Amino acid sequence: MADEPLIFEKSKPDRVGFSLPELDIPFEDIAKLLPSDLIRQELNLPELAEVDIVRHFTNLSRRNFGVDNGFYPLGSCTMKYNPKVNEEIASLEGFTHIHPFQSEKDIQGILELLHNFEQYLCSVFGFKAFTLQPAAGAHGELTALLMIKAYHNSRREGSQPSRTKIIVPDSSHGTNPASVSLVGYQTVVVKSDSHGNIDIEALAKVVGGDTAGLMITNPNTLGLFDEHILKVAEIIHGVGGLLYYDGANANATLGLCRPADLGFDVAHFNLHKTFATPHGCGGPGAGPVGVNEKLKPFLPIPRIIKRDEGWGMSCEGYPKSIGKVHSFYGNINVIIKAYAYLLSLGAKGLREASENAVLNANYMMKRLKDYYYLKYDRTCQHEFVISAKWQKEKYGVKALDIAKRLLDYGYHPPTIYFPLIVEEALMIEPTETESKETLDKFCDVMIAIAKECETNPELVKSAPQTTPVKRLDEAKAARELNLKWAPGNS
Ligand SMILES: Cc1ncc(COP(=O)(O)O)c(C=O)c1O
Repeated sequence: MADEPLIFEKSKPDRVGFSLPELDIPFEDIAKLLPSDLIRQELNLPELAEVDIVRHFTNLSRRNFGVDNGFYPLGSCTMKYNPKVNEEIASLEGFTHIHPFQSEKDIQGILELLHNFEQYLCSVFGFKAFTLQPAAGAHGELTALLMIKAYHNSRREGSQPSRTKIIVPDSSHGTNPASVSLVGYQTVVVKSDSHGNIDIEALAKVVGGDTAGLMITNPNTLGLFDEHILKVAEIIHGVGGLLYYDGANANATLGLCRPADLGFDVAHFNLHKTFATPHGCGGPGAGPVGVNEKLKPFLPIPRIIKRDEGWGMSCEGYPKSIGKVHSFYGNINVIIKAYAYLLSLGAKGLREASENAVLNANYMMKRLKDYYYLKYDRTCQHEFVISAKWQKEKYGVKALDIAKRLLDYGYHPPTIYFPLIVEEALMIEPTETESKETLDKFCDVMIAIAKECETNPELVKSAPQTTPVKRLDEAKAARELNLKWAPGNS
C-alpha cells in the first residue's frame, strides 16, 4: 500500500479488464465522422484485470483524508460533518431530473424552494433580500462589490470624483483584497489593535470621500468578535461608504446576532461552511449575498417572483441590476442541501450549533494555551489561533513541522501561517459536530507534540514518518507540479 505503483507500471500486455463487443459498423464509416488527428491505431492504455484496477483505485482512495474518516480542524474552512440526510434529499429524482430549460410550470417546486430559502436567509441574517446565484464565497464577494460599485455610480453627480477605495483589516481573509482588485477598487489595509479588533484610530485616519466601503469578517480570522463593530459602522456610514460583512464565519453567530442589525449593508455567506454542505477541493459551493433596501435594486437577475399563474424567474423590471453572475440560478444542489439542513435544525437548532462551535473552540483554547503561545488571550468564537513561537525560539521547531507531525498521529493539520498577523500561526476550528472525546484526544496529541519539541525536536522536524508521502520540498511541490503521466515519464 505504501508504495502503490502507477497503474501503468502494473500493466501487463494483453491483460483484459473489460471486453467490448465486436464492432458492428465498418470502422471506415466511423472514421469518416471523426477528426483525422484523433484516429490512432495504438492507444497507450494500461492493461490490467478488473480486480487489479479495483484494488489500485481503492488503495489510492484510502490515502484520502476527509471529515468522514477523521477530525479536520482546518481553521477558517469549517470542515464540519455534513449529515447524510441532506445528501439523500438533494439526490431525490424530483431534484436531480429537472433541467433549467424546462418550462416554469414544470419546475414550480424548486422555484418555491429557492424563494423560501431566500426568505429563511433573510430572517436568519436580517437582510431584505438575497441572491442565491454566487457559486462560492469569493464569488459572493465579487457580486457584492459589483453592487456596491453600481450603487455609488448611480448616486454620483456631475464631476463628483468616484469612490475608489475599500478598507480591509489586516486580519482579513485573502479573498477580500483579491475581490477588491478584481472590481477595480484599491485596497486600504487598516491594522488591528492589541485585542484583535480593528484599530479605531487608524480607521478614522484612512476614511474619507473616496471610501466606497469596508469589508470585515466578524468573527474575524483570529476567531475574535470585533468589539467595536457598531463604531466601525458609524465611521463608514458617516463618510457615505457601505459596510460589507464577509459572513463566511457565520457558523459562530447563527441565532445569536444578525449582521444587518449590526449595521451591515451587504454580506455573503458560505453555504459550504455554515450550512453543512461539503467544503473542499474548490467546490461545488454557494455564496448567497444578502442586501438591505439600499442595495436591493442592484441584485443580480433573474429574480424569483410569484406571478398569478405561479412561480417564475424574471429579468424584467430591474434596470439597475448588475446582471447575471451565474448560469440559471446557481448551484441548486448545494442550496437544496443547505435548505434541508436549515429546516431540520430550525431556529433553536441553528443557535445551538453556533453555541457549541464557540464552546468547543474555547474549551480547546483553554487546554492548549499553556503549551502554545496565544497572542490574543480572550474569549474566542468558533476558532482560535495559537502559535509555535515558543517552540521555534527554544527548539527551532516551526508551525509547519507541528502540522506535519500531526499527520503521523492521523489528524488533518490546522491551517498554518494564517492569519498573517500571528507569527507561526496554527489556526484551529473544531466546529460544533465533534464530541468532547474527539477534542480531548486532539488536545492530548498537540500537548504530546509540544513535549516532543522539547525532548526530540528532530523527530518533529523530520515528520511525517508514517504517511505514504514523506516530507516534501514545499517550494518545489508548489511550483513544479508534475501530475500528468506521459510515456517514459513514470
Ligand atoms: C473568512 C472567509 N472569507 C471568504 C472565504 C472564501 O470562500 P470560498 O472559498 O467559498 O471562495 C473563506 C473560505 O473559507 C473564508 O473563510
